[in-house]
Amino acid sequence: MASSSLTERNRALFSVSTLLLCFLLCISEQSNAQSSPVFACDVTGNPSLAGLRFCNTGLNIKSRVTDLVGRLTLEEKIGFLGSNAIGVSRLGIPAYKWWSEALHGVSNVGGGSSFSGQVPGATSFPQVILTAASFNVSLFQAIGKVVSTEARAMYNVGSAGLTFWSPNVNIFRDPRWGRGQETPGEDPELSSKYAVAYVRGLQETDGGDPNRLKVAACCKHYTAYDVDNWKDVHRFTFNAVVNQQDMADTFQPPFKSCVVDGNVASVMCSYNQVNGKPTCADPDLLSGVIRGQWKLNGYIVSDCDSVDVLYTKQHYTKTPEEAVAKSILAGLDLNCDHFTGQYAMKAVKVGLVNETAIDKAISNNFATLMRLGFFDGDPKKQQLYGGLGPNDVCTANNQELARDAARQGIVLLKNSAGSLPLSPSAIKTLAVIGPNANATETMIGNYNGIPCKYTTPLQGLAETVSSTYQLGCNVACAEPDLGSAAALAASADAVVLVMGADQSIEQENLDRLDLYLPGKQQELVTQVAKVAKGPVVLVIMSGGAFDITFAKNEEKITGIMWVGYPGEAGGLAIADVIFGRHNPSGNLPMTWYPQSYVEKVPMTNMNMRPDKSNGYPGRTYRFYTGETVYAFGDGLSYTNFNHQILKAPKLVSLDLDENHACRSSECQSVDAIGPHCDNAVGGGLNFEVQLKVRNVGDREGSHTVFLFTTPPEVHGSPRKHLLGFEKIRLGEKEETVIRFNVDVCKDLSVVDEIGKRKIALGHYLLHVGSFKHSLTISVS
Ligand SMILES: *[C@@H]1O[C@H](CO)[C@@H](O)[C@H](O)[C@H]1NC(C)=O
Ligand SMILES: *[C@@H]1O[C@H](CO)[C@@H](O)[C@H](O)[C@H]1NC(C)=O
Ligand SMILES: *[C@@H]1O[C@H](CO)[C@@H](O)[C@H](O)[C@H]1NC(C)=O
Repeated sequence: MASSSLTERNRALFSVSTLLLCFLLCISEQSNAQSSPVFACDVTGNPSLAGLRFCNTGLNIKSRVTDLVGRLTLEEKIGFLGSNAIGVSRLGIPAYKWWSEALHGVSNVGGGSSFSGQVPGATSFPQVILTAASFNVSLFQAIGKVVSTEARAMYNVGSAGLTFWSPNVNIFRDPRWGRGQETPGEDPELSSKYAVAYVRGLQETDGGDPNRLKVAACCKHYTAYDVDNWKDVHRFTFNAVVNQQDMADTFQPPFKSCVVDGNVASVMCSYNQVNGKPTCADPDLLSGVIRGQWKLNGYIVSDCDSVDVLYTKQHYTKTPEEAVAKSILAGLDLNCDHFTGQYAMKAVKVGLVNETAIDKAISNNFATLMRLGFFDGDPKKQQLYGGLGPNDVCTANNQELARDAARQGIVLLKNSAGSLPLSPSAIKTLAVIGPNANATETMIGNYNGIPCKYTTPLQGLAETVSSTYQLGCNVACAEPDLGSAAALAASADAVVLVMGADQSIEQENLDRLDLYLPGKQQELVTQVAKVAKGPVVLVIMSGGAFDITFAKNEEKITGIMWVGYPGEAGGLAIADVIFGRHNPSGNLPMTWYPQSYVEKVPMTNMNMRPDKSNGYPGRTYRFYTGETVYAFGDGLSYTNFNHQILKAPKLVSLDLDENHACRSSECQSVDAIGPHCDNAVGGGLNFEVQLKVRNVGDREGSHTVFLFTTPPEVHGSPRKHLLGFEKIRLGEKEETVIRFNVDVCKDLSVVDEIGKRKIALGHYLLHVGSFKHSLTISVS
């Protein structure tokens, strides 16, 4: 009895304390979700801060940072090395959560940004791989600009941070990679252009002051990171063995462009090792390349939590302190998570790293926050973006851009006998079938937020024609309901099958093992096609490519479209293309290999180039010569375009120094730097390619013009690579002239075996569509 009454008493105590706890939590919850943004230097609320130099907006950033760092104790400094930065109340600096994401819309992944009653959702654009398929650089930037406006609006009401760890610009090297969906594809040129444009869209302020940032972007994951979890290989322990040639002409270019041309405010180092060293503890990769050669103006952050991983999982160091010291000394400024904060003090005490190194790291972090206006007082009183609020999120225009982005990216892969677009007047009932036919969350991929709303494919199609629906099976498709699906198809005038993947098939930490459609999806498609009376359109919703040879060859399947993960308005965009309100103009940003390819190629082989000695076929359209299901750049339109090169040189001669060795003896290539590159007229060795593009069909359409080159076969050069691309729109029978300015040393050069740029001497081909032009580069 006594014990029971004790229990009662405990229970009573417990509920009182729970109440208290809840009371405290609820208050802090409320202040979290309420309307005030997090910022430092609130001189209005706390006039004593006005005298602090770091709060003085009239001074330059460098002296403000120096002043601030000078005021902090070592312990306080260490609080700014981690992504959950600890505030210093005596200086009016609140805690700040660095980790926010905005891969294709403001996301609630990371903890720095969240959705609440005030801002229940944000515009969710297509997953990046589909946006990349538009090959429209203005679109990349336009999306970035909308995302940063929504982010600023959310920041003003305390719902978002200012530092976003997007975009992901790793090369989509292997079709099985679960995170390929997050990237702009397999081509370094496209990835570079995407990185620069998206980062500018996120970062550039109205007015263009380079000392100001709208929000801070981050190019990740540096570098050669593209294996997550394949067979028994895991990203935390994978050592990517990369040769200097592939490093220089495949893995590094998007990061270099992002920093050098995009002026990104941050780079994130990856989990994996590159050639035996964890990237976050490699001084050559961080201090040497990112800060030294590329001159990053901003901070280097670890993946979450790479520093822990390099100690705990990779056993790269003997102690946690050593891991912390090594990464800071390598050039890491900010650690995602708490590991560095936990061990930095001891690392300093035992002499593994000194306070100067810590000052350097936090100075880079503070400088970034200063450029964001974080130390300028109340953001709602600031001239830039102070007026933004919840009404600027999910606006009609922003959501229309999400729809347009999906439309611009959708790739039409097959259209037999012009069966597409479907004519609404000829269709009394449309059967819409498949696991993704009424998809919602699946459409927004990963690193998503909460969208403003969804329009599913079924809803989009049903807006135009009367539609019936059968799931058929879920994405895994172990037991399809073949009978009901076939009966529905047989009773309709046309069929749209929406198949493909979702995050249970491909995502972070989940690479695929094969390229087949999941489970029995192929059987479902085949059975439905067999009984259909009219056109059958197969829509593949996925990030990665599939071997859909069966559908390509099946006559009853009259149309095939790849729609990526098309974002919140995906269903509207799909319907726009199927019914011809939008003429498709997307092109594949990655090769679609047959299943036999992945049976030959281990994911872990990082080599881009083929190896004749062991039958290794090489990777991506630049090196792989085998059969494809669909090729990089494939994509049909409802009209046709002709190309013709009007002007391009037949011969370029390099004016080498008098005593250059290649004047007297035969050379295969010469360096792509030197007087012969700089001294030419116009400050570089350039020529112009003029080409004519004509829309020979009878409807308006957008079209990407690709200029490829095939260099001489020297230094294992690519079989072809993209010099440039441009997206244009042409009315029926309209034509235009496009100019590409080619810098011989920069654009035409190849990378040699030790990672140096060289101009190969000999015969080149320039390709535009099926048109080819010969060009010789020689020495004079
Ligand atoms: C701190 O460490 C760095 C890097 O090891 C070194 O270059 C520097 O001289 C040290 N500074 C002081 C004040 O000891
Ligand atoms: C399609 O999905 C929407 C959104 O989840 C749902 O409201 C609707 O009922 C679904 N339609 C059918 C026919 O299942
Ligand atoms: C590229 O995207 C922009 C922004 O959405 C759009 O205005 C433009 O029409 C697109 N260009 C082409 C050629 O389709």
